[in-house]
Amino acid sequence: MFRIILITLLCTSKLFATTKAYTGPIDFGRPATQEELSTYPITQYPDGKSLPIGQGTYAEGLKLYGDHCASCHGSQMEGKVAFGAPRLIGGRGTITGKGKPIKTIESFWPNAVSLYDYISRAMPFLTPKILTANEVYALCAYILGEARIISKTDQLDQDSLPKVSMPNEGGFIDPFKKNSRPAA
Ligand code: HEC
Repeated sequence: MFRIILITLLCTSKLFATTKAYTGPIDFGRPATQEELSTYPITQYPDGKSLPIGQGTYAEGLKLYGDHCASCHGSQMEGKVAFGAPRLIGGRGTITGKGKPIKTIESFWPNAVSLYDYISRAMPFLTPKILTANEVYALCAYILGEARIISKTDQLDQDSLPKVSMPNEGGFIDPFKKNSRPAA
């Protein structure tokens, strides 16, 4: 037993003694091209400053929703448990700390730009990133219109989307603000 420990110690100390940081070039792959890099910054922050130029309406979104989303999220946006696809609207006012909360975009999400961000990066679930900017604005207009957060006649674009006021926007603690409390 003692001998095994001794051999192990000798081996590892030898290993550490000879290991040096590798300073040469890492000789595999190739630098990413500008075109490839341009597809990476897809994050849309709540201020909406980097939203792409585009616009979409409720009516356009209605059609797109039927084609790309309803199969999983349901025709009334009620969600489908079997697919793990959540309900998208409703439940407003249920996040009170009492009773069972119904968490949806309408009842929970504090910011409308996040809806653009989420759809453009992650939906449709099986074929993400197939939608154009106009199509994503249209889907936002449809979902927010159905939730009665905006009017069904409102058009959404890079300027109007960040101005949309969400029902639960006061329900979050601001980590950068001292003594921040969610609105009662
Ligand atoms: C193949 C099924 C499928 C399709 C089609 C689909 N989704 Fe989803 N969606 C999901 C699943 C599953 C989740 C949950 C993902 C997770 O929690 O990681 C989700 C989550 C979401 C969420 C986040 C909801 C929340 O409260 O967290 C939004 C918004 C959304 N989908 C919008 C859409 C839109 C818009 C379309 C159509 C362009 C679409 N989805 C198409 C399956 C689907």
